[in-house]
Amino acid sequence: MPNLLRQHDLQDVRLAGDGFVLRPWRPDDLDDLLAHANDERVVRGLSDRFPHPYTRVDGERFLAGQVVDLTDPVFAIEIEGDACGGIGARPGQGDRRHSAEMGYWLGHARWGRGLMTKVVALYVPWLIQSHWLYRLQATVLDSNPASARVLQKNGFEEEGAQRCAVVKSGEVHDLRVFAKVQPPR
Ligand SMILES: CC(C)(COP(=O)(O)OP(=O)(O)OC[C@H]1O[C@@H](n2cnc3c(N)ncnc32)[C@H](O)[C@@H]1OP(=O)(O)O)[C@@H](O)C(=O)NCCC(=O)NCCS
Repeated sequence: MPNLLRQHDLQDVRLAGDGFVLRPWRPDDLDDLLAHANDERVVRGLSDRFPHPYTRVDGERFLAGQVVDLTDPVFAIEIEGDACGGIGARPGQGDRRHSAEMGYWLGHARWGRGLMTKVVALYVPWLIQSHWLYRLQATVLDSNPASARVLQKNGFEEEGAQRCAVVKSGEVHDLRVFAKVQPPR
């Protein structure tokens, strides 16, 4: 079990960044979540687990841990009390136990100010250390250069593409594969 943190300890995690905090989602985040997530521009870069329109039921299911496993390191991005985005990772199991897959999103009003670059810079070293990771992967739609740039600015290397992996709004997309690798010493 590579996870150095017990699940209940994750509930106490609070990572303070420059103008934002990363902390577990709470049931009372529902209104903020709906305000930021129900936006076609946000959903465009994400998987279908993030639907559009994003309804109150979708938000309730997410906050109840029925969409992604909230016992994983999945955090809200909070700015001045506003839960305006999220970042999380799914650690692997068995022979993938030292790997994880990361994803993130931000409400449109906060885009273009370097925020996600700073969020990833805070979250990734914490995640790699606390979960004893050798590999952290993120996949990005070929139509999402801003997300690719966030990863590149944080030292992720592009390893290739999963060709024709996703069909979104009737269009076929490649998934660009990025990873940060920290082999055991
Ligand atoms: C992707 C996303 C997280 C970026 O957040 P952000 O806070 O705006 O990102 P930052 O400002 O830190 O960095 C964005 C970078 O992309 C660049 N960029 C933005 N649009 C771009 C475009 N169309 N082409 C190329 N680069 C672009 C910016 O210039 C910036 O790079 P720079 O600092 O070198 O100038 C945000 O747009 C988002 O939440 N999108 C919807 C959800 C999503 O796509 N999540 C990622 C799934 S893999």
